Amino acid sequence: MASSFVLDREIGDRPYFRNLGNRVCPQFLEPLRHLGALGYWLFWLLAASGIYLYIRFDTSLTGAYDSIDRLEWWFGGILRSVHRYAADAFVVVVAAHLVRELLAGRFRGFRAFSWISGVPLVWLLYGSGIVGTWLVWDARAQFSFIATLEWMHMPVSSAEQAFDRLFSFFVFLHLGVPLLLLAGMWIHVQRLGRPATVAPGVQALGMTLSLLVISLIKPVASAARWDPRTVPQALDIDWLMLFAHPLMYATSPAALWAMALGLTALLTVLPYLSRKPKLVAARVDPANCNGCGRCVADCPYEAVSVVSGKAIVLAERCAACGICAGACPSSTPFRSARELVSGIDLPDLTVHGLRRRLRGALPAPEVVFRCEQASGPGIGVRCIAMLPPSFVEYALRNGARSVKAVGCGAECAYRLGLALADERFSRRRDPKLRPTVRVKRKDNEYSFALR
Ligand code: HEM
Ligand code: SF4
Ligand code: SF4
Repeated sequence: MASSFVLDREIGDRPYFRNLGNRVCPQFLEPLRHLGALGYWLFWLLAASGIYLYIRFDTSLTGAYDSIDRLEWWFGGILRSVHRYAADAFVVVVAAHLVRELLAGRFRGFRAFSWISGVPLVWLLYGSGIVGTWLVWDARAQFSFIATLEWMHMPVSSAEQAFDRLFSFFVFLHLGVPLLLLAGMWIHVQRLGRPATVAPGVQALGMTLSLLVISLIKPVASAARWDPRTVPQALDIDWLMLFAHPLMYATSPAALWAMALGLTALLTVLPYLSRKPKLVAARVDPANCNGCGRCVADCPYEAVSVVSGKAIVLAERCAACGICAGACPSSTPFRSARELVSGIDLPDLTVHGLRRRLRGALPAPEVVFRCEQASGPGIGVRCIAMLPPSFVEYALRNGARSVKAVGCGAECAYRLGLALADERFSRRRDPKLRPTVRVKRKDNEYSFALR
């Protein structure tokens, strides 16, 4: 299929794209790894500032505009500006998150759920922002509401005969749509183990301070009061949030529908336009599974569960990263069995095969285990967290003077691999590295020797 060819060539699941940011300028691009979490932070910032504004807000048609005007500049006024700018920042952060996932090829196969569940969030985000604009009840609100009615082919007269019930409807929408957005955000991360929904402190603080500074430099002000007898003309609008209205007037309501629905449909089917990466899902051997649940706790894609005391894998969710095999207590090379069968394993890259390759390399002054995504020589593992720590001790006790384990770039291809390997090697998580082994870390490279 032509589209599949283009997609795979242009934005395939290549480490080059994934690590591009880290190669170009690690410090500068580091925040881009946490865009989803920053989105969560902005949501909570909007909720907190919104609750205060709601307390001060007069929810009647006659009082709304004045109640916003009455906010003292140094607190309520600043909070109002923060609320508005946080909404704009939310749009930018989500757009950047979407583009980043796209460029890294993270939209298909086992990630299709995360991708597709992200698409309605864009609608809900814009919906929340646009109805928020209406609450101010100024000429900008009037312009946006009329444009929306025209887009929906609804009679504009309903905007001219503004009445209390309509205003209550706006308030209801501005509470209801963000709640739907929150529910959508929760669903969005349901197929991810340990989803990163909390932004690093420095970034959350940096974002909040930036919003405060912008609010002080350029506080948000209402336009003239909503006047049903006039049609708003020249207006200064928030282009990030309201760009669809001028776009509609420059084209037509039908053209805007075509663009909005077309883009939504394209994003939704994108995971199916591209060839799925060929993966052989992890497989469980019930005879070697004791139901301990370590594989469930470590799987980055919620692909394993324990049912009736035995692990089971949902193949369509599995990324074939092997992290579960690295977690399983039965994956130890010290077992005497000729055929090392693990409770959970990758059929195309087994723990038995790993032991065979290791034995073939021994004795040696140094044994290197290397993540497949990292270049260089060594015994390849799908992800560095596929390596059970017992393999390190096994190598050291069977003819290796030192052992190295090398992870990929700064961002793990399987989300959690680097973090899980670090917790295991630093003896904070099962399966732990034995205390008889000394460990040193330099970036994503670990060096081991016997004490
Ligand atoms: C309100 C908007 C959004 C928020 C708050 C949000 C938040 C998040 C968070 C917290 C994660 C987990 C990151 C991790 O732990 O690795 C995530 C993952 C993801 N998001 Fe979003 N997201 C939003 C919108 C979108 C949109 C619009 C798309 C694309 C259409 C998208 C695509 C993805 C994908 C594909 C992943 C999985 C990445 C992986 O498997 O490594 N998100 N998002
Ligand atoms: S290989 Fe194991 S850890 Fe990785 S996604 Fe599949 S079941 Fe989860
Ligand atoms: S880690 Fe191994 S033993 Fe434990 S539940 Fe998973 S497959 Fe079974």
